[in-house]
Amino acid sequence: MIHARIAGTGSCLPGEAVTNDDLVARGIDTSDEWIMTRTGIRARHFAAPGVTASELALVAARRAIEAAGCATEDIDLVIVATSTPDYIFPSTATLVQDGLGIRNGGAAFDVQAVCCGFVYGLAIAEKFIASGSHRRALVIGAEVFSRILDWSDRATCVLFGDGAGALVLEASAVPGVRATALHADGGHHSILCVPGSIADGKVTGDPFLRMDGQAVFRFAVKVLGEVAREVINRAGVSHESIDWLVPHQANIRIIQSTAKRLGLPMDKVVTTVDRHGNTSAASVPLALDCAVRAGQIRAGQRLLIEGVGGGFTWGAALIDF
Ligand code: ACO
Repeated sequence: MIHARIAGTGSCLPGEAVTNDDLVARGIDTSDEWIMTRTGIRARHFAAPGVTASELALVAARRAIEAAGCATEDIDLVIVATSTPDYIFPSTATLVQDGLGIRNGGAAFDVQAVCCGFVYGLAIAEKFIASGSHRRALVIGAEVFSRILDWSDRATCVLFGDGAGALVLEASAVPGVRATALHADGGHHSILCVPGSIADGKVTGDPFLRMDGQAVFRFAVKVLGEVAREVINRAGVSHESIDWLVPHQANIRIIQSTAKRLGLPMDKVVTTVDRHGNTSAASVPLALDCAVRAGQIRAGQRLLIEGVGGGFTWGAALIDF
């Protein structure tokens, strides 16, 4: 049986940290106290004008490849999860493949599952590797969400940031990714969306992120608890054996509620939402890489990663690191 294990991680945060007070100074009608109390977010990063998701993805990818100690030419699958691609097409993944100089004809494509995109990408890569069709995948979450924020909507613009995270997943004789679960329910598409499109050279509809915050909160807490239990059961492991929960970094209160439902103490939960805000598809791999480089997550430990995003989409993976 072919398994898939994580060989290396990397990430990229653009520019300087922008604090809540910086947002106030930029004219947004909010306060550090409101944002901190409701979300736990202290700061986020924004890409400079013209900096694209593929550029952030490339930096994160190079760091992950260096950590994995493999040659770029050995990567035969590139998956980029993003809702803020450089172009309508070609995919951001093909731009990353080109930027890395990979010329081996391997597959490259984007995944669109919003904040759950990285979990979707990881689960897809694991299946490609387990099938024997591919041997080494680069899975990336990269976003420039600042481009789709309505700065006059204080209920949403304070929540998000830009960034990228990546990992190299490779074929292995020993288990790495032990179980995955992916779900979607399109019946909830309208509570979190960017309901615009391009036609006849113009944007039609609304090109900004719109959200019913309370509906999202309730939905996220419910499905994150359920999908976490699902992968734990599917992998046949105990709750106690989990060393780290690496959840989607949307809001500290959602993270705390999920940890409580799983009976996990907060000192087993990786949190970066205070420093990064919600970076959508980038949030899980960014948090993972930060925890690896900080020496929190170590080889041999057991991880539970999970995400939830617009669509609605949700999913989780149980991983021996
Ligand atoms: N600063 C100050 N006041 C604000 C701000 C702000 N940035 N935003 C809203 N308010 C005000 C509102 O105008 C309202 O004022 P009013 O009572 O005078 O009308 C008041 O605060 C309460 O507004 P609510 O929207 O009811 O605030 P709520 O307590 O629901 O908190 C929040 C909003 C933080 C968005 C919350 O609903 C939440 O955390 N939802 C989860 C959403 C989330 O995490 N989304 C991320 C994307 S989805 C994902 O990644 C899964």
